[in-house]
Parts: sequence; C-alpha cells; structure tokens
Amino acid sequence: MQTKGTIAELVLLDGLPAARILCPPPMIPAPGKYLLAHANGSDAPLAASVFPASSFTDGFLAAPPIPDSWTPGTHLHLRGPLGHGFILPQSARRVGLIAFDDSSRRLLALLDTALTQDASVTLVCENPPDDLPLRVEVQPLRALNEVCAWADYVAVDAARESLPVLKSRLGIGSPLRVPKDAQILIRTPMPCGALAECGVCAVETRDGHRLACEDGPVFDLKEIF
Ligand code: FES
Repeated sequence: MQTKGTIAELVLLDGLPAARILCPPPMIPAPGKYLLAHANGSDAPLAASVFPASSFTDGFLAAPPIPDSWTPGTHLHLRGPLGHGFILPQSARRVGLIAFDDSSRRLLALLDTALTQDASVTLVCENPPDDLPLRVEVQPLRALNEVCAWADYVAVDAARESLPVLKSRLGIGSPLRVPKDAQILIRTPMPCGALAECGVCAVETRDGHRLACEDGPVFDLKEIF
C-alpha cells in the first residue's frame, strides 16, 4: 500500500529525534514491521525505513534514527507496512526485551500488548529510557542469560553485523539457551523494500540467505542460530 503521511512533530527519545507521523490506520506498522518513507521534494536517493516505537489511532511514533532533514509539517510518501513483525504469544507471561546494540525503542512497541496481557516485562539494555512504566524491570546486558532463562518469550533487536557476538553471548550451541518463543529483529539497510531484489539486506540463516526486507526483519531466533 502507498499513501501520504505528515510529520506532526519531532520528539526526543533517549536524546535522539523521533517523528510522530500521521497516516491512515492501515499504514500503521505493527511492532517489528516497517514503512519506507520518502520526504516530499527530498533529493535523498533512497527512502528511509521507519519502525514504530508506539502507535496511536491516527498514526505512530517512528523510532530513531530518522533522517536529519525531517521537520514538522514535512509530507511523506509512505509504502508499507512491510515485512514480518513480532508475534507476542497470548500465553506469554514473562517477556524479555533485549536491545543488544542500539535503542530499545523498536522493542518497546511491544510493551502495551505485553502489559495488557498482564505479562511481566524485563528490558535488557545498556541505556534504558527514562520514561518506562514502573512495571518494567531493567537489567544490564550482562544479565542477558539470566533473563533468557527466566522468560517464556524473548524479543531481540540487533544489527546484522552484531550477530556473531550475540550468538556467543547467548551461549548458543546445544542445548539452545533461549525460550522456545524467541524472535529477533535484524537491522540492515533495506533500500528497496523487496521491490528490486537488490540483495543488500541479505541475512545468513540456517537455511541459507534470506532477505530481511521481505522474510524479516523479524525472524525466529532458531532460524538464525
Ligand atoms: S532491500 Fe532490496 S532486496 Fe531487501
């Protein structure tokens, strides 16, 4: 689907600009899914991929990073929602959110659903946001393995180049030391959003190469490790 959107305002999230984007409700990406967005009149050669940090009835808050040139009132050409997002099982009662190497905001898009189903939530990250609900526990990355052992669902956010380090930190081998329900959002450039099959977003999985833009960017962790 393609349509237009508008940047209603910029807000600082963890010291970085994020954009509140107004758009038709069907365009609002679910947690882990994304839109390709191009500012009207921009000379940027490629659209930016934007992920939700939270959503509203008339749009969503796009998690950092966003293009520097975006300002309130900017009109956007939007395509999406694209890709596969997170699937939080309704039965999950102990949810671990692991921001391995970047902002936790893409993972926090899951927070409302997790809290609504009365799950306990632990966020693992090095730079926790200061506006978290009191119900959310925060742990540093060194607690990664303890949180994985405690959780019955884990969502991870990591850059493609961080996957080897993540794998060793998780101690993955046999047996797998993560819950059965574990997913990972793999961040890569996604310049064409599957339109041109450019291959820039290729991810190595246990079954060969997959495209993050189309097959992901959220994968089952067991597909990757
Ligand atoms: S971004 Fe071009 S194939 Fe994925």
